[in-house]
Amino acid sequence: MALPAFAALTPPVKPRFLGQTTVFKGKRYTCIKGKSKGKTVLIWDSGKAIAIASPSASRTPTPSPSSSPTASREPIVTSKIEIPVAKSSDVPNNSTKSFVAKNRYGNETTYILVRNSENLIAMDATCPHKGCIVGIAPEGLLCPCHSALFDPKNGAVLRGPASYALDRLTVREVDNVIYITD
Ligand code: FES
Repeated sequence: MALPAFAALTPPVKPRFLGQTTVFKGKRYTCIKGKSKGKTVLIWDSGKAIAIASPSASRTPTPSPSSSPTASREPIVTSKIEIPVAKSSDVPNNSTKSFVAKNRYGNETTYILVRNSENLIAMDATCPHKGCIVGIAPEGLLCPCHSALFDPKNGAVLRGPASYALDRLTVREVDNVIYITD
């Protein structure tokens, strides 16, 4: 029996914001704008193969004469890491603050930390509508692009056009440092 012309080889996760990346079947995909039925939608690009060092490589590798000394490979990190984003004292009780730190891919990312009397929560400030950076406003967490509004207590959508809540991240404090996992 003839095989289909192509199999569905796009990541199973839905692209949610521009620049989002995901790894699927040995490729890294990035969320870009595309067209569907005349509308602009978010889609995955065609993906770039990830070069992963072979675990069976020689224990005493010698530099390849053909490799350029400047061709250093970007580290491939596929699992989440803990990232120090602020001092505990930077986020006092009943405050909402934003901080910029590099995520596991080395991309600068804005994180929002909210502390109340009960807990400390962390969210990725990337708007799930089209990827703008959500800011802190008197009425809540406000996207400057199309005015989506999110609840600072939990990231839930209070007003569209965003359809998804802000991404909540694991957060912990150790020795006066706040770490998020992203
Ligand atoms: S990008 Fe945030 S509301 Fe459109």
